[in-house]
Amino acid sequence: MRRPLRRRHLNAAVQSLAAAQALVRAVRGRPGGLCVLTGAGMSAESGIPTFRDALTGLWARFDPAELASEDGFRADPQRVWDWYAERREAARAAEPNAGHHALARFAQRWPGTLALVTQNVDDLHQRAGNTDAVRLHGDLLADRWLQACPRRRGCSPDAAVPGRPPRCGECGNPLRPGVVWFGEELPPQALEAARQAAEACALMLVIGTSGAVWPAAGLVGLARRRGAQVLIVNPAASEIDDEAHLVLRGTAARMLPPLLLDDTALGP
Ligand code: OAD
Repeated sequence: MRRPLRRRHLNAAVQSLAAAQALVRAVRGRPGGLCVLTGAGMSAESGIPTFRDALTGLWARFDPAELASEDGFRADPQRVWDWYAERREAARAAEPNAGHHALARFAQRWPGTLALVTQNVDDLHQRAGNTDAVRLHGDLLADRWLQACPRRRGCSPDAAVPGRPPRCGECGNPLRPGVVWFGEELPPQALEAARQAAEACALMLVIGTSGAVWPAAGLVGLARRRGAQVLIVNPAASEIDDEAHLVLRGTAARMLPPLLLDDTALGP
């Protein structure tokens, strides 16, 4: 009894992939035709934990308000600095996976078609070759001062005195990681670039995000309202599945090479 059922599921999956490939084929070479929004699931197969996995996710093990907010940092700067130092080490040690590479090769092969918007603070898209990715939530590997310099000097964070966290030798202002924390606004230029890309695209490809964090999640509905097709790649359900015309249930590293019609995915 089980065998025919399985075959039916397999057939459905193959048909979905073929339909999804047709959507990609239709936008190749079209300026700004493809907007891709990535989330933590994009880097999961590179060994970087997601945020909302029930067992292994970062927010299952740590309280975001304590570690990823200005109040949390001010309450215990050393703890928060050390937590980010561990995450930085993990990000530096990780390598882009087949999904990152497929996106980078697509951008290279079809210049001008892809606008890549990421919620990820690692640099795996950049290291794969998508150096112009829009980074909505900042850069884990960058430092900035916690507060504006009281003396209005434009000191470089590189000049900080080493410590946990490093501080300005003159006024004691600490460094903080260059990520967006809870309660903070997204960088306005990045958000505007992401909105424009979502509005302009014909296909919105959403990879590895729970769709739980705004305004990033709202980009998907925005694209759809402007007439774009919406395609989601995620092995599990997400909060924005209702916005999708098509959902591929699979992981980024497995689905993206065939989806993006990446010749190298066909093997030697
Ligand atoms: P989440 O941790 O909320 O969601 C990760 C998503 O990735 C889930 O929907 C998983 O099903 C999916 N997933 C897991 N493994 C995958 C794989 N191998 N391939 C594809 N998908 C996979 O992460 P985000 O949606 O990115 O914000 O979270 C959004 C924001 O919440 C983050 O940018 C972060 C966090 O608070 C800030 O740090 C400001």
